Amino acid sequence: MEFNRQLLVDSLQAEYKHQNLPFSLHIFDNVSSTNQTLWQLIDQGEKPGCVVIATQQTAGRGQWGRQWQSPTGGLYLSMAIAPKLEATSSYQLTLATAWGITAQLRKCGIPVGIKWPNDLILDGRKLGGILTETKVNQGQITQAVIGVGINWANQVPETGINLQLWQNSHNSQMFHHLEILTSQVLLGIKSGIECLQVEGINILLSRYLDLLTNMGDQVYVNNFLGTVVGVTQEGNLRLRITTYDSKAAVTPEISVSPGTISLGYRQTPV
Ligand code: BTN
Repeated sequence: MEFNRQLLVDSLQAEYKHQNLPFSLHIFDNVSSTNQTLWQLIDQGEKPGCVVIATQQTAGRGQWGRQWQSPTGGLYLSMAIAPKLEATSSYQLTLATAWGITAQLRKCGIPVGIKWPNDLILDGRKLGGILTETKVNQGQITQAVIGVGINWANQVPETGINLQLWQNSHNSQMFHHLEILTSQVLLGIKSGIECLQVEGINILLSRYLDLLTNMGDQVYVNNFLGTVVGVTQEGNLRLRITTYDSKAAVTPEISVSPGTISLGYRQTPV
């Protein structure tokens, strides 16, 4: 499948009017991983705003060291950024990206939600995911690569959904072209990172929580039942646990890190 660069540029240019685009676009048919290719380009001197797009990947990287199946028909891209952020806050980049893309797709009429920490959810199934990688020097992030995979027309596993099937059943043509989806995802990443850097983590978190599908979910952690009440600035899930001491119910709060528990799939907020 050919990727139409001009269609992507025109769609981005419609947003930036007469300004120069803040992206330098590198489009490939096939790479092992767009994140990996982007790190190579950064090593060769490419700057923040550099974007790698591929129509397929042979070794797509998922979260927690998993593989990301990447046949043609999916969207695979990575963007270089140079955020002013301490390494201990690196997860904020993932939260910001998840919020930015979700909000952007919702503006386009697709009712996407977020499943903690970084899954994009549609009709209760996984539409896409985000993998952020960073380089750190003396406790500060010097460079970051934000990788995004979205199911557009590719085959998906049972817990997944692709945008084309959803659009067919909802009479929507918004993302008839992969290039239009790509432009909206790039704008979404940019607006999410800008929100974090300009408005700060508290505002970003409150927007993220508005689109989080897991608020109020009940999950077991170490045999205790907890209710999801939020997300910390480090990206941990906040759970209110109900236990009983000898006299009354007590409800301490705990937080769990990304990757330590897995939440199920459910409907997106309307
Ligand atoms: C997840 O596991 O949910 C995150 C998946 C992220 C996949 C994308 S596809 C483009 C970019 N390049 C990669 O190798 N991975 C990310």
